[in-house]
Amino acid sequence: MRRCERSRVTPNLRGAFIRTVAHISDLHFGTTDPVIIAALAERLRTLQPHLLVVSGDLTQRARRAEFQSARAFLDAIPTPRLVIPGNHDVAPWFRPLERWRAPLAGFYRYIAPDAEPFYQDDELAVAGVNSTRRNTVQAGRLNAAQVERACARLQSVPASRVRFVVSHHPFDLPSHYRGHDVVGRAELAMSSFARAGADAFLSGHLHVTHIGETTLRYRIEDYSALVIQAGTAASTRIRQEVNAWNLISVALPDLYVDRFVWHAPRRDFIVAGRDWFQRSGRQWEKKAADGSATSGNRTG
Ligand SMILES: [Fe+2]
Ligand SMILES: [Fe+2]
Repeated sequence: MRRCERSRVTPNLRGAFIRTVAHISDLHFGTTDPVIIAALAERLRTLQPHLLVVSGDLTQRARRAEFQSARAFLDAIPTPRLVIPGNHDVAPWFRPLERWRAPLAGFYRYIAPDAEPFYQDDELAVAGVNSTRRNTVQAGRLNAAQVERACARLQSVPASRVRFVVSHHPFDLPSHYRGHDVVGRAELAMSSFARAGADAFLSGHLHVTHIGETTLRYRIEDYSALVIQAGTAASTRIRQEVNAWNLISVALPDLYVDRFVWHAPRRDFIVAGRDWFQRSGRQWEKKAADGSATSGNRTG
């Protein structure tokens, strides 16, 4: 039953995936469209991915009611999940005492007890890192201890597993994007994650879909991982593109990213396109539909 339902989205690869990961981000409960939220939940329930990744900004103002709505949404999707906080989930500046003393209290209370969760199964290892900071407005960063811990977790699993890193703030930006929102200390972190064999970096924050390869920003010998960025799944505060999210399907040596976008007339998400990558050693390469290499291109 599960396999049959997944094939509705990917009919040409029926039963071929060792893992499917739904990657959503920037839900921003408090500014969500209820029609879109309902459609998103139904899609996720139907697809039944092996894992649901939520890369932060579950709320708009880190209010209790927003966290409660986010939790209710997550609980209605019967899928293992890995959720990390975004900068909007930090107690806001107008609650200074809470922001200083317990900036992620709401996240811990309503969403998850750990802001840096780790998921593993027989095929996949996923390390979440918390890039939010209480002393910045929007910017995020990682410190050496965080990177070391995440790398140790990724290196603790058998080499055959596919390894993802999840952060709210991205490791790369779309080519047209004007901003400086790359996660702080990204260069140092990328060197460590490369040694740990990270295959892909999943993030959000920009509200713009972006799928590419690390080689466009980071020069590390014989290493090319994927950057997979989700837009905002359900917020009405969209920038440049409609609500969107990604479905990642792994069938080594191949990995596919299906880009789901909101289609208002149908009141549903539709697949806007697919990116296909193939791994050889420590390098992922983008493939065209005919199987030829197209590395160096970006979606978004
Ligand atoms: Fe956001
Ligand atoms: Fe954000």
